[in-house]
Order: sequence, then structure tokens, then C-alpha cells
Amino acid sequence: MSSNSAAALLPSVAAPFYRAVGDEVEVFLAAARRSAPILLKGPTGCGKTRFVEAMAHELGRELITAAGHEDMTSADLVGRFLLKGGETVWVDGPLTRAVREGAICYLDEVVEARQDTTVVIHPLADHRRELPIDRLATTLRAAPGFQLVISYNPGYQSVLKSLKESTRQRFVAIELDFPPVETEIEIVAHEAGIDTATASALVGLGRAIRNLDGSPLREVASTRLLILAGGLVAEGLSPRAAARSAIVRTLSDDADVVRALDELVDAVLPRP
Ligand SMILES: Nc1ncnc2c1ncn2[C@@H]1O[C@H](COP(=O)(O)OP(=O)(O)O)[C@@H](O)[C@H]1O
Ligand SMILES: [Mg+2]
Repeated sequence: MSSNSAAALLPSVAAPFYRAVGDEVEVFLAAARRSAPILLKGPTGCGKTRFVEAMAHELGRELITAAGHEDMTSADLVGRFLLKGGETVWVDGPLTRAVREGAICYLDEVVEARQDTTVVIHPLADHRRELPIDRLATTLRAAPGFQLVISYNPGYQSVLKSLKESTRQRFVAIELDFPPVETEIEIVAHEAGIDTATASALVGLGRAIRNLDGSPLREVASTRLLILAGGLVAEGLSPRAAARSAIVRTLSDDADVVRALDELVDAVLPRP
């Protein structure tokens, strides 16, 4: 074997495909150099998770993700004692692992979690960078490289209400939104594996839905939904059929809304 055989032993993971939409990459990297925690805002499906994956790759750090949900407790983040083969063993939660390993800890949609859950992040977010673990009667200092990233959708009930103002002010906030039209076309074409013309038609539909006046929809047609529809086109469905299944009926259960959106689909997308 040649001299690069050692390198060959390392897992070579391709960089996640991410197209920047503003200065978010520069801001993230600067905040990471200062170990400042990051607050990532943006609607569902606009690229928050993909962005963090790309930044973790860029920084060469492990990414540990915990998805928020309403039953989440602080033990889900920190860890708990579990019974294993008759013995009680402590098992680190994702936050604790990230603190020990110096990884990026991404708390995704943490807004869903109960208020007491977010209490554990206060001493991690400030200059102490500490994680108290009551159950182990210990406090961990975050390893170098540890980076806290919290995402939330500003359209929902805000986690910020449960963050103390003094904690919130330690975060660097990055606001993401759906990409500009040309970028979104490129993303949809790339991710779904479809041609630019089809991606462009789907992005046109997505924009038409986003621009609806007085929209009754809780969520708009996200980049993720456009990719989903594009994937169905790649599998042989017509763009209209794909949009009806992957966009319209995903967004609404209301018969009147579905009918109106189906009409929009027929108006915007080409006949099969
Ligand atoms: N700027 C971007 N560059 C590359 N892909 C993107 C971008 N924004 C969105 N995507 C695509 O959209 C999908 C949904 O984005 P995701 O990161 O899961 O959204 P969020 O976490 O905000 O809900 C991703 O899997 C990716 O395929
Ligand atoms: Mg996400």
C-alpha cells in the first residue's frame, strides 16, 4: 500500500451538500471559534439540520443531535441509570456525550420540550461551560470543541420564553429562511435527482403557495416538501400527481383548502 494507507483507514465521509443563502456559514464558524452557543431560527424544512451537518463536517467535529418532543425530560438529554443484566449502569444522554467528547450538540426543535428540560443548558451556554449531573453528584466541564446549537421555529410557541434573558443573550442567533429562487431550484434538482426545468416548476409552485394571501396553512410548502415531490417525479409520477400527494395533502386535511391548492397545482405545473 502507498503512503496514504493510514488516511485510507479513516472513514471518508463526503461533505454534506449545502448551499449557503447568506452569511450563515461565516457567522457559524466565527461563533464556533469563540465557543458561543448558536440559536438557529427558521421555518420547518428550510435547511437548518442540513446546515448544522455541513458545519460539523467543515469543523471536523462529531455531531450529536437530540430532537425535542413534548415528553422530553432533562434525563433524555443528560442521561439516566438503566438496568443492564441485573446491574444498574449509568448511560450518558446525548448532551453529556457531546460535553465529554467535545462534539457539536444540536438540540433540534427544542421548543417542543418542557421548560425544566432547558434548565440544564443554562450553565453550558454561559462562560462556565459546565454540565451539572445531579444523579452522579458531579459537574462536567465541556471539552474543547463542545458547541451548543439550538434550533426552533419562530412560528411556534417559543422556547425563548423558557430561556432566561441572561442565557438568551449569550447565544449568537442565525436566521435561516427558504433559499432564493435560483438556489432553491438547484437544491431541489440536486436532492431529488430531477432536471432543472422540473425543479423550477416545483419551486414555482412552492413560491405560489408561500405567497398565498391569508393562507390557512400552518406550514408553507418547504424546500423539504418540494424535494419530496421531486423525488416522486424522479420515480415516474407526473409533476402534478407528485405535488398533489407530496405537497397539497401533506399540508392540509381540509377539503376546501385541498381543492383550492389542487387548482393552484394545475395552474402552475405543466400538463403531463
Ligand atoms: N441551503 C440548502 N442547501 C442544501 N440542501 C438544502 C438546503 N436547504 C434545504 N435543503 C434540503 O432540504 C432538506 C430539508 O432541510 P432540513 O435541513 O431537514 O430542514 P429543517 O431542519 O430546517 O427542518 C434537506 O434534507 C436538504 O435536502
Ligand atoms: Mg431539522
